[in-house]
Amino acid sequence: MTTATAAKSHTVKAPAVKAVQPLLIGGRWLDSVSGKTFATHNPATGEEICQVAEGDKADIDHAVAAARKAFEDGPWPKMAAAERGRLLNKLADAIEKHKEELAALESLDNGKPYRDAIAADLPLTIKAYRYYAGWADKNHGKTIPVEGDYFCYTRHEPVGVVGQIIPWNFPLLMQAWKWGPSLTTGCTVVLKPAEQTPLTALRVAALAQEVGIPDGVINVVPGFGPTAGAAITSHMDVDKVAFTGEGSTGQIIMEAAARSNMKRVSLELGGKSPNVVFADADLDAAVEGAYFGLFFNQGQCCCAGSRIFVEEKIHDAFVEKMIKKAKSRKVGDPFDLDTEQGPQVSQEQFDRIMSYIHLGQREGAKMLTGGNRVGNKGYFIEPTVFTGVTDEMRIAKEEIFGPVMSILPFKDTDEVIRRGNRTFYGLAAAVWTRDIKKAHRLANSLRAGTVWINCFDVFDAAAPFGGFKMSGIGRELGEYALELYTEVKTVYVNLAH
Ligand code: NAI
Ligand code: MG
Repeated sequence: MTTATAAKSHTVKAPAVKAVQPLLIGGRWLDSVSGKTFATHNPATGEEICQVAEGDKADIDHAVAAARKAFEDGPWPKMAAAERGRLLNKLADAIEKHKEELAALESLDNGKPYRDAIAADLPLTIKAYRYYAGWADKNHGKTIPVEGDYFCYTRHEPVGVVGQIIPWNFPLLMQAWKWGPSLTTGCTVVLKPAEQTPLTALRVAALAQEVGIPDGVINVVPGFGPTAGAAITSHMDVDKVAFTGEGSTGQIIMEAAARSNMKRVSLELGGKSPNVVFADADLDAAVEGAYFGLFFNQGQCCCAGSRIFVEEKIHDAFVEKMIKKAKSRKVGDPFDLDTEQGPQVSQEQFDRIMSYIHLGQREGAKMLTGGNRVGNKGYFIEPTVFTGVTDEMRIAKEEIFGPVMSILPFKDTDEVIRRGNRTFYGLAAAVWTRDIKKAHRLANSLRAGTVWINCFDVFDAAAPFGGFKMSGIGRELGEYALELYTEVKTVYVNLAH
């Protein structure tokens, strides 16, 4: 049980949470079949928030059966598409009505500053549901002028029962990116939230139930990856799996999908995104953008601009400004409205990031600020900046997923394009310059799913997001995401006499 923190005027109250949280299958809130529960922790203190029903294969089997029933018999895929849209809009309204509560719960379970949750996660989540609500009755097929006396048309049908496995860095948002396009097309879903952050997914599921989304359309089964997650990916009656998380987990998931029923797979994986700053850029804007692009969300972003290439001529000036900003970043209590950076999500992530910091030092990069734990409880890490980073260092190649910045100098455009692309990842990239030709040349040459020009981390529900190369398969958001959740059916009608 969480008790409310002493409310200072600039501090938001932590929400009260029920001691044990059940899972949701077929409209019923249940204990897990095994009766097991697991703890979810407050990353700011390391203390337990509550216990959560721990789903495993038996629970996933029940959830898939409920989702199948809702798909085959239930009203969801067969109801008027506009009615599905109306219900998704009602869900968006309910989330909006409870936005302070949800932001506080997200902050408690994940550690992100409340002010980020309320200013970024919640609005983007609400907009994603509204955007996809609008698509419900607009995702239609074509008539095709085929040869012969036939009338030919296509139907866009829901792919069926969908398994969705999401990570802990943006729990509400990842749920919305998965639920928006799948529910609007008429799929039914089994969602496994991350074991570190199951609370907001359960709360949104309760809201979905309240607004009248029919039983079995949404099922939420918290649990661990190798148990509940694996039960989804290897299930013979799941038609598609959508995953966001680590690349190596994505590989396991593709393999499980291939070995079971060849369910369709979409993956949104990590990155080592290049952020290229040319000497002709607005220097203050570039520093601000690079700072935000790396440190936002405690550095726990798949699209973090974690390789900052800075043109030699301005390198020292850029570094000086960046160090000043990094040193002034306010790290602390996520519920304090002045806090810019909260704790990392878990002890495991904390350890992993600290080991990369030590590795960077051993590899010979220069650590100009940061490198230490903050405080003596919770998983706080100082904003850390390395210069003198070379392409071969592991800190320049591997995803760190923490507040650790690497700055790499470069001399000319061809060189930086080549080096920027020298990675197995391809999620995002950014370029800072006042030269429009140079900006577009980089936008066209960088092999990444999103390129930001003179900005970073701009997101919109209408614009697709996803990765080239090992950063993933498929695109979420926008019209493109509808393809992940639809089958195209071709119908021929004989019109000959
Ligand atoms: P992860 O990939 O293990 O976890 C993400 C989700 O996958 C969780 O729900 C987890 O339970 C599930 N999962 C894990 N193993 C599974 C399996 N065998 N079968 C099915 N589902 C499985 O990521 P983790 O361990 O939380 O973080 C490790 C690293 O992954 C981070 O340091 C970061 O580099 C990267 N990551 C990338 C994210 C992104 O947004 N692309 C999000 C989270 C992590
Ligand atoms: Mg893992």
